[in-house]
Amino acid sequence: IDTTIFSDAREASKVVANEIAGLIRARNQIGQNTVLGLATGSTPIQVYGELVRLHREEGLSFERVVTFNLDEYYPIRPEELQSYVRFMNEYLFDHIDIKKENVHIPDGTLEREDVYKYCKEYEQKIEQVGGLDVQILGIGRTGHIGFNEPGSLEKTRTRLVTLDELTRADAAASFFGEEHVPRRAITMGVGTILKAKKIYLMAWGESKASIIQRSVEGEISAQVPATFLQKHENTKVILDEAAASELT
Ligand code: F6R
Repeated sequence: IDTTIFSDAREASKVVANEIAGLIRARNQIGQNTVLGLATGSTPIQVYGELVRLHREEGLSFERVVTFNLDEYYPIRPEELQSYVRFMNEYLFDHIDIKKENVHIPDGTLEREDVYKYCKEYEQKIEQVGGLDVQILGIGRTGHIGFNEPGSLEKTRTRLVTLDELTRADAAASFFGEEHVPRRAITMGVGTILKAKKIYLMAWGESKASIIQRSVEGEISAQVPATFLQKHENTKVILDEAAASELT
C-alpha cells in the first residue's frame, strides 16, 4: 500500500488538495463532472481549507463537481451543531461555487422505515454519475472508515449501522457528553468505498499511530475495516510523522 509520510498535516493536506484540484481542472477543461467522496471530522479540514483557497485565489471552479459524503449520524437534524451537513457547509460548501443539487449527504432525519430504500437510492445516485473518482478518508481509532465499525464486511453497502463505544467516546466532547452522541449512523459501506477509482486515507497525530500500523501492515480482516484498503490498487495513505511512528 502506497504510503507517504509528511513532516506535518498542513503540508500533506496541500498535496492532497492539489491532486484533487488537478483532477477537477482537467475534467472542467473537457466539460466533464468530477465525483468526490468526502469525509468529515478533524482530519480533512485543512484539505477543505486549501480547496477553498484555490477557489478564491486561483479560480478553481466546483460547478461541475458532484459530492457524496461518507456518512451522517442517525438521527440528527441538519441544523444541529454536530451534523455533518453543518460541518460541510462551514468548512467547504458555503465558500465555493458548488451547485446545491450536486451535494449529497446521508439524511439523518428519515423515518426508520424509509432508511433502507434511501440507502439503496444513495448507491444508485453514485452509480448514475459514473462512480466516485476520488474518496477521501480519515480513520477512527476502531479502524473504521466511514462509520464501518469492526465487523463490517468487505461487500457492505450504504446502510444504517451502530456506532462502536470507542467511536461514541471519541465524539463525546463535541456532543457535550457521551449520552448525547447518537447510537447509530448512516454510512457508505466498505464495498462502496472500495469502488472509488482513487482513495486517500489520511491520518494525523500519535493517537492514530497504532491503528494506522494495524491497518497498513496488519492482516486483512473485518475486525479492522481499514485493512480492506490493502486490496484497493489505487489507495494512497497520507500520514504525518506522528501517525506513521509505529510503522515498521
Ligand atoms: C467522518 C468519518 C470518520 C472519520 C474518523 C476520524 O466522515 O467517516 O471515519 O474520518 O472518525 O475522525 P477524525 O478525523 O475527527 O479523527
